[in-house]
Amino acid sequence: MFEEFALAGRVAIVTGGGTGIGRAIALLLARRGADIAVAGRKRAPLDTVVTEVEALGRRALAVEADVCDLGAVQALVEAVAQTFGRIDMLVNNAGGAHGHVGIARMDPAKWDRDVALNLNAAMYASQAAFPHLRRTRGCIVNVSSVAGMHGTQGVAAYSAAKAGVQMFTRVAAAEWGPAGVRVNAVAPGMTATEKARAGWEKVGFDADGAAQVFPLRRYGLPEDVAQLVGFLVSDAAGYITGEAIAVAGGPVLGGMVKIED
Ligand SMILES: NC(=O)c1ccc[n+]([C@@H]2O[C@H](COP(=O)([O-])OP(=O)(O)OC[C@H]3O[C@@H](n4cnc5c(N)ncnc54)[C@H](OP(=O)(O)O)[C@@H]3O)[C@@H](O)[C@H]2O)c1
Repeated sequence: MFEEFALAGRVAIVTGGGTGIGRAIALLLARRGADIAVAGRKRAPLDTVVTEVEALGRRALAVEADVCDLGAVQALVEAVAQTFGRIDMLVNNAGGAHGHVGIARMDPAKWDRDVALNLNAAMYASQAAFPHLRRTRGCIVNVSSVAGMHGTQGVAAYSAAKAGVQMFTRVAAAEWGPAGVRVNAVAPGMTATEKARAGWEKVGFDADGAAQVFPLRRYGLPEDVAQLVGFLVSDAAGYITGEAIAVAGGPVLGGMVKIED
């Protein structure tokens, strides 16, 4: 492995690390040498990832925590610091939309839930981790979405929260750069997690067909997102902070004439 990508001796927290993109991130960081703490509400998927990380020869910790609960997030950060003695990387990955509904019919409580999960939680964890990260000159990666760049109908709160987390990323990068803490965001496009695949199957969604609008003509995989996170947390990205980078198969553009090569 190129030395600048190595993470040996470092400790990462990955929220939502039991499934999907978070699991792929946890395993990639472990393969690069990091010890891993994964957090989520359900125990079983976290325990599976702990076993997978340990099989790679790294130390791992599962912490049951609701990232929308400030006290639980603070306890998560302290448990990781106690267990491993340091925190080098925080990946705020837990997220998702609580169903699709138009703005006109949206229950304000749903708006609050989506914003709490996709925006507030990143602030809670970042604030709690910052004292540890400044000691290690560590970094944060927030998992946003292309919905936070272009917007997606039916998930207004999710789109707004994912846009908000990109601005939080920029402000935190500016405030914490002098302390040596980098903060970046990744914005996945349509990504085939287990949950996404099950949802596609349930409604008969032709994901391969839909992916033909993307310049790279396929949907994303959790590993595509993990590769970008692996870069952003590494020393190779040591001069990059405050950015939001899409992993989405390329820009989908308009135009009167279709040009394919
Ligand atoms: N898949 C896509 O197409 C796509 C596209 C753009 C962005 N993203 C973003 O990528 C991130 C990962 O999503 P994914 O696609 O991998 O979905 P996923 O498999 O549903 O993963 C979401 C994870 O977050 C955890 N989580 C949810 N609510 C939580 C809470 N309140 N507290 C703690 N953990 C919580 C879940 O675990 P528990 O249920 O056990 O808590 C789960 O492990 C999300 O931020 C999502 O918005 C995904």
